[in-house]
Amino acid sequence: MTPVTILGLGPMGRALAGAYVAAGHRTTVWNRTAGKAPEGAVEAVTVAEAAGELTIVSVIDYDAVSAILDAEALKGRTLVNLTADTPRRAREMAAWAADQGIAYLEGAVACPTTGIGTPQGLIFYSGPRELFSRWEAELSVLATPMYLGDDPGRAAAFDVAVLDAFWNALAGVVHAYALGASEGISAAELTPMLRGLGEILPSLIDECGANLESGEHPGTASSIRSARAAISHVIAASETAGLETGALRAARGYADRAVADGRGDEGFSLLTKYVAARGDGNGSAS
Ligand SMILES: NC(=O)c1ccc[n+]([C@@H]2O[C@H](COP(=O)([O-])OP(=O)(O)OC[C@H]3O[C@@H](n4cnc5c(N)ncnc54)[C@H](OP(=O)(O)O)[C@@H]3O)[C@@H](O)[C@H]2O)c1
Repeated sequence: MTPVTILGLGPMGRALAGAYVAAGHRTTVWNRTAGKAPEGAVEAVTVAEAAGELTIVSVIDYDAVSAILDAEALKGRTLVNLTADTPRRAREMAAWAADQGIAYLEGAVACPTTGIGTPQGLIFYSGPRELFSRWEAELSVLATPMYLGDDPGRAAAFDVAVLDAFWNALAGVVHAYALGASEGISAAELTPMLRGLGEILPSLIDECGANLESGEHPGTASSIRSARAAISHVIAASETAGLETGALRAARGYADRAVADGRGDEGFSLLTKYVAARGDGNGSAS
């Protein structure tokens, strides 16, 4: 079995290393802070000592990746970067790796640590197709690998798009608990109602995607004008409760612009065209 190296032993790096150990690979690990190696892995003292034919890095961001990488030790070998960051930084890192003579694959873990080591887990990859094919069997030990194309920024592009929905939704959930609490609603009372929302989201996402593909945004079941009024009620109640309203105001801003364009009778999916920041601080232009 191919020996593998994992650089970075946060919760994700430890899960990655654990999956290789469990699958029987000789697994060498390194971390800035020593003593975090999972059982069965071999802890190296330096990155140069740890680096092998297949080296995977998973740390907090690309500044940390740049701080720890040893280009000399990785020259002529494969580096798979499973650290999350932006598409622009992913492309810059790929260009740097090419300059250093490092075979480089970009990746983004699209599942929690509990998915690692199982086929239910998902990891996005982008970069040279032949490099992905060469290591596909080894990468499949970690999770189901999804190859997204040559452009090294593409894995990060998918990652930030999915995380955009995830973090906005989760921020909405904590905001809802705070708004509920301001009216004396306990978390236990609200939880089943919020779970109910989760159940209708898949069909709403399907509809939004289909509308964007077809270019038709029917507002017969619910119009932008109606959604705008509903969002305004949530903003007003949040203000009364002394809560932040920035995210809600951004959403109402998209609806305001659609209504001003005379498209208030169309459906919510049309607002995708009104997300672009306006630079006045009300759409987070910075
Ligand atoms: N955890 C998850 O569920 C999950 C899910 C999907 C994707 N991811 C992605 O996986 C990556 C790793 O995440 P994580 O959950 O393991 O925890 P993390 O807190 O994002 O990263 C912790 C790791 O980064 C290292 N680190 C931080 N700053 C550093 C620096 N300046 N120089 C060198 N090393 C540095 C830490 O080393 P020390 O131990 O020395 O502090 C540790 O190894 C991230 O890009 C994250 O977005 C995580």
